[in-house]
Amino acid sequence: MSDLRSRLPSTKPENAQEFYGRWAALYDVIARRTPGIPALRRRVAAACELERGDTVVEMGCGTGANLPYLSEQVGPEGTVIGIDFTGPVLERAREFTAEYDNVHVVRGDATQPPLADWSDVDALLATFVVGMLEDAPDAVDDWCDLVGPDGTVVLANAARSDEWYAPPVNAVFRAIVVLSTPPTTKLRYENAPHLRLDRKIDAAHRRLRERSRAVADETHVFGVVRLTGGRLE
Ligand SMILES: C[S@@+](CC[C@H](N)C(=O)[O-])C[C@H]1O[C@@H](n2cnc3c(N)ncnc32)[C@H](O)[C@@H]1O
Repeated sequence: MSDLRSRLPSTKPENAQEFYGRWAALYDVIARRTPGIPALRRRVAAACELERGDTVVEMGCGTGANLPYLSEQVGPEGTVIGIDFTGPVLERAREFTAEYDNVHVVRGDATQPPLADWSDVDALLATFVVGMLEDAPDAVDDWCDLVGPDGTVVLANAARSDEWYAPPVNAVFRAIVVLSTPPTTKLRYENAPHLRLDRKIDAAHRRLRERSRAVADETHVFGVVRLTGGRLE
């Protein structure tokens, strides 16, 4: 097993893009239809504490399941920008949001966002993304700098549950992590990929709490989804 592991390439953006590109249609169904997820998406959009006319960026927007909720919050006079580096998922996001004039879907890297056309960002959202970044706390730092004082950053991520019914929920979570991780990444072949993901997610959410005043600190979907929102001082 250690031989096999040493021959596998480490996490690479192109592996993630190929994986999400291939599974875009299936991912889209899961992202929109999983019980509890539509309510979560409405809640994360509300946690961004947007006002009408605001500009909000979603990093790693995937097939765009959050974008209508964000559009609703900023109104037609506001702007929603969804960024993702995987072409096929963005195509779905474009189709899905075609009727919203205030939503822009842009291909780019969440760690180097192509935002030259939009100078003032009021809020930033990233759902189920930081676990895929090489240095998640560093990315959170950059996102906090991007929104600046009075801006809001919101993260939502699946990690193991601490609730009393945790063992079966955590077993399902572990299976989901293994199945939904691009197969050529190191993460999938580790003995405990869910633990490494947990640590990464913990570190990212902790960095947001350190950098901001809490506006949301909750768990959802049987305690598996952690939601942290902070307003920069
Ligand atoms: C698990 S999906 C989540 C999609 C969406 N946020 C949602 O809640 O359904 C992760 C997404 O993040 C994107 N992603 C991962 N790393 C990225 C990066 N560095 N830059 C841009 N997109 C990235 C992937 O292409 C994928 O669409």
